[in-house]
Amino acid sequence: MKHLFLVLTLASTVCLGQLNVNKEFEFAAKQYEGMLAAHPDLTQFPQSTLPDGKPRDMKSSWWCSGFFGGSLWYIFEKTQDPKWKDAAHQWTMAVEKEQFNTRTHDLGFMLYCPFGNGYRLTKNETYKNIMLTGAKSLATRFDPKVGLIKSWETFKGGYTYPVIIDNMMNLEFLFWAARESGNKDFYNLSVTHADNTIKNHFRPDYSSYHVVCYGPNGEVLIQKTHQGAADDSPWARGQAWGLYGYTVMYRETKDKKYLDQARKIANFMLKHPNLPADKVPYWDFSKPGEERDASAGAILASALLELSTYGGKSAKSYYKDAVTILTSLSKAPYKAEIGQNNHFILQHSTGHKPGNSEVDVPLVYADYYYLEALLRYQALNKK
Ligand code: GLY
Repeated sequence: MKHLFLVLTLASTVCLGQLNVNKEFEFAAKQYEGMLAAHPDLTQFPQSTLPDGKPRDMKSSWWCSGFFGGSLWYIFEKTQDPKWKDAAHQWTMAVEKEQFNTRTHDLGFMLYCPFGNGYRLTKNETYKNIMLTGAKSLATRFDPKVGLIKSWETFKGGYTYPVIIDNMMNLEFLFWAARESGNKDFYNLSVTHADNTIKNHFRPDYSSYHVVCYGPNGEVLIQKTHQGAADDSPWARGQAWGLYGYTVMYRETKDKKYLDQARKIANFMLKHPNLPADKVPYWDFSKPGEERDASAGAILASALLELSTYGGKSAKSYYKDAVTILTSLSKAPYKAEIGQNNHFILQHSTGHKPGNSEVDVPLVYADYYYLEALLRYQALNKK
C-alpha cells in the first residue's frame, strides 16, 4: 500500500512514454463516479460482474470489502478533491465491524487497504484504533506451535490448518501495527510466518503452491491448490501475492533473504515462456491461451515497481516490465469504456476458474492494485 515517495506535485503532468497517469486517474474518477451512483447502499460492496452481466456486490465480511474504499483513497490522493475524501471515508467506515472478525485471515486486505490508506492521508485516529483492534483479531489466528497464521478454518479432505500463499499480503498490516502499538509480537509472528512460507510453499523453481495444510505441530500434511489449475501448477495471482509479500518483507526487515526470494519469484514469472508479450498473465501459467488475469498483472506491476527501487542487476528490467504491464492495462482490451463494465476500470480478470466463479470479469482488487501501481509509477518519475 505504501507509496515509494509520498510527496506528490499534484499540478504537474506525469506523461512518460505511453503512460499518462493524470489521464488514467481522470478516467478512474469518472468511472468511479458512476460506481458511487450505482451503490447507494453501504452494505453492498462492489466486487465484480455476474454471468448475466449484472453487478456482483458483496457484504463487508467478504475478503474484498476494503478495496473499494482503498481505491477511493487513491483517487483522493491524486485529485485532492474533498468529494473523494468523503466517499472514501464512508466506504472505509462501512468495513468498521470487521475489526472484530477473527474468522478470516484477510483482515490485511479488508482493513489495511481502506483504513491504512485513510490513516496515511488524514491521520484520523479513529482509523488507527480500528486497525489496532483488527491486528489483534488477525493475530489470534497465529498458533505458535504451527508458526503460521491460519488462512481458513478447514480445507477439503478434513484439514484444519490450511495456509494460502495469499496470506503473505496480511503481513504489511501487522508490521504497521507493530510500529504503531510498540507490540513486537506482530513483527515476530510475521517473520515466522514468512520464513515457514518460504520453507513449505515454494517449489525448486520458486513457483508456489496455493494451499499448504499443516498439522498441530507445524508438520506439512499436504500441498494443494484451490484456485489454480492443478496442485503443482503456478496459479498466476498466487505468484503475484507471493512476490508482493516478500517485497514488503524486505522493505520492513531489510533482511536480504526476502529480497532474494522476491527476485526469484519475479524471475520465475517474468521469464516464464507462457507469459504473454503484454505481460498480463494467463490465469494460471500452465494455461496459455485461456483467460487472462488482469488482477495478477496489476499486483505484479505494483510489486515490481517497488522491487525496482532495491537495486541489483535486474532493477531496470523490473521497472520496464512493470511499465509494460501498466501500459497494457491502460488500453483496450483491459481498460473499459466510460460507463461500461459495471463502472469498474479494468476488464479481463479471473477470480476462481476451477470453481467457475468470476471468470473473465472485472474485479475490484484489479482496479485497486492498478491505481496503486500508477501512483507508484508517478512517484518514481518525480525523483
Ligand atoms: N483468495 C484471494 C484471491 O482470490 O486472490
